[in-house]
Amino acid sequence: MAETMQGLHRSARCAEIGKESIGREVTLMGWVQKSRNKGGIIFVDLRDRSGIMQLIFENGSIDEEGFEKAAKLRSEFVIAAVGTVEARSGAVNPNLLTGEIEIRVRQLRILSESETPPFPIEENSKTKEELRLKHRYLDLRRPDLQRNLMMRSLVTSLTRNFLTEEEGFLEIETPMLTKSTPEGARDYLVPSRVHPGTFYALPQSPQIFKQLLMCSGYDRYFQIARCFRDEDLRADRQPEFTQIDMEMSFVDVDDVIDVNERLLAELFREVRGIEVPLPIQRMTWKEAMDRFGSDKPDIRFGMELQNVTDAVKGCGFAVFKNAIEQGSSVRGINAKGLGAMPRKKIDKLVDFAKDFGAKGLAYAAMAEDGSVKSSFAKFMTQEEMDALIGAMSGEPGDLLLFAADCDKVVFDVLGNLRLELARQQELLDKEEYRFVWITEFPLLEWSEEENRYTAMHHPFTMPMEEDLELLDTDPGKVRAKAYDIVLNGVELGGGSVRIHQNHVQEKMFEVLGFTKEEAYEQFGFLLHAFQYGVPPHAGLAYGLDRLVMLMAGEDSIRDVIAFPKIKDASDLMAEAPNVVSSQQLEELEIVLASDKE
Ligand code: AMO
Ligand code: AMP
Repeated sequence: MAETMQGLHRSARCAEIGKESIGREVTLMGWVQKSRNKGGIIFVDLRDRSGIMQLIFENGSIDEEGFEKAAKLRSEFVIAAVGTVEARSGAVNPNLLTGEIEIRVRQLRILSESETPPFPIEENSKTKEELRLKHRYLDLRRPDLQRNLMMRSLVTSLTRNFLTEEEGFLEIETPMLTKSTPEGARDYLVPSRVHPGTFYALPQSPQIFKQLLMCSGYDRYFQIARCFRDEDLRADRQPEFTQIDMEMSFVDVDDVIDVNERLLAELFREVRGIEVPLPIQRMTWKEAMDRFGSDKPDIRFGMELQNVTDAVKGCGFAVFKNAIEQGSSVRGINAKGLGAMPRKKIDKLVDFAKDFGAKGLAYAAMAEDGSVKSSFAKFMTQEEMDALIGAMSGEPGDLLLFAADCDKVVFDVLGNLRLELARQQELLDKEEYRFVWITEFPLLEWSEEENRYTAMHHPFTMPMEEDLELLDTDPGKVRAKAYDIVLNGVELGGGSVRIHQNHVQEKMFEVLGFTKEEAYEQFGFLLHAFQYGVPPHAGLAYGLDRLVMLMAGEDSIRDVIAFPKIKDASDLMAEAPNVVSSQQLEELEIVLASDKE
């Protein structure tokens, strides 16, 4: 029978007790990790969120009833133990924080019994994630997940402290039940009972509200904000996720970057003991694309893209020649030292490239003896081949890989191929943290689907002053005062300076193909607010989940979120989403199409 707390008070957590406590009496509470009965003596590993402490129960130091109770203990029972801290009698366990001590128990209470759990509660679990997520409350007992969530809590409290105490930010909440916000994903909708047929949208970010707060004079706002986006999920995307969101008045790009560099440095110092060298490197979007084929470049390794268009212009290889004639480019990467890669493996790389839209992947594998195996050398003269190898700084032992296509495809293919090769060669060190700011993003993106320009960031992003005139003549060339902070190839956060001048905002809507009426219908309250005195302002938002994922050395944000969803956006434990009662639907005046037939 489960006992109660009556009269007992926990004196410390398991791993908070050290050698200095030898001789003291303590009261510990937690879960039985494992127990070993050696006849007259029983060893129990007691676990709580701090770690593990060894308990020993021995006839003589505990009464008979207590000893019998201890003999019944099984994994995941919840117990309270009162006893004395002693130096370990047996072998010291160097793997445990508390490996040199143990507790000789004189009083035991079983607070709760446990059935055999469906999987062992252990670090680096081999259990399938699906089963673990179904029983997330057990999965969350595992020490790795507990460490991750404790780290997450530390990150938010340090952030809060830094921004409010040291930098004068105010923490202000913005609504969850609101209107569509402009981040470009699909909205989650919530039907209104009071106004049947109408819907709230859950915020994709607090974007509009934080800009309104600037209009209202709050000057420096921040929030640990939950955001909702109905988009395809990946390892670093969840339908609901958390931003560290901020906005500042009377600032420009450098001011936002400055506060945020100091915030990042503080977090890495306090949480990981790592010094982030400031200032963080900056790279324009164009440079990032040219060198790494990505706007979130992983700069922990080289293997940069080379533009060889000029070197192969007019060469005999039709694939290159035709591509260039059509205005495309030819670019390559030099996988140093991989010249001996077997044909089968190269074919796999070609398939990989095709998954990213390549029509093919041309290669030249350079053996140590100077001979070259290539899918296209036969179409080129020796001089043309030499010029190409020269442009790639190719040396014996190198593998040269080329893609010819429009820039978008070439960057996507080679950018991803570069990462794939780095993974294969294990060039990525999780303990190395390389930050980079990406700046001067294009303001607009051409959407083939919609046959119009769309905002790359959102429609309130300020164009660079020197490009303003291009809005009329060549909108696709306009650069934005937008910036992303990238860490080890992951987009950690992004933001921009906002448009605060009416005439620029109107021009922007015009370029995006919104009529004034459409713009007012969607964002009217913001545009009205701007008529009553608006300070120049700018901001940024981090994906908190991604930040903690990288700090914790995890590969998925699911490992730093207490109750995450799986790929199809469902919660395996709570079984959400789910059907609702017909009464609820009636109240909302909702009729399901499937019920109509
Ligand atoms: P953005 O859309 O770039 O900007 O989002 C900011 C950061 O939020 C994180 N993020 C996500 N994390 C997990 N799952 C998702 N589905 C997801 N989507 C985004 C990323 C991203 O860098 N309002 C603007 C910010 C601003 O301009 O101030 C915004 O939301 O780490
Ligand atoms: P093909 O003439 O189609 O047999 O192609 C000859 C070689 O060029 C093969 O290795 C193809 O993978 C490669 N190739 C085809 N199209 C492209 C392209 N757009 N860019 C780079 N290589 C290509």
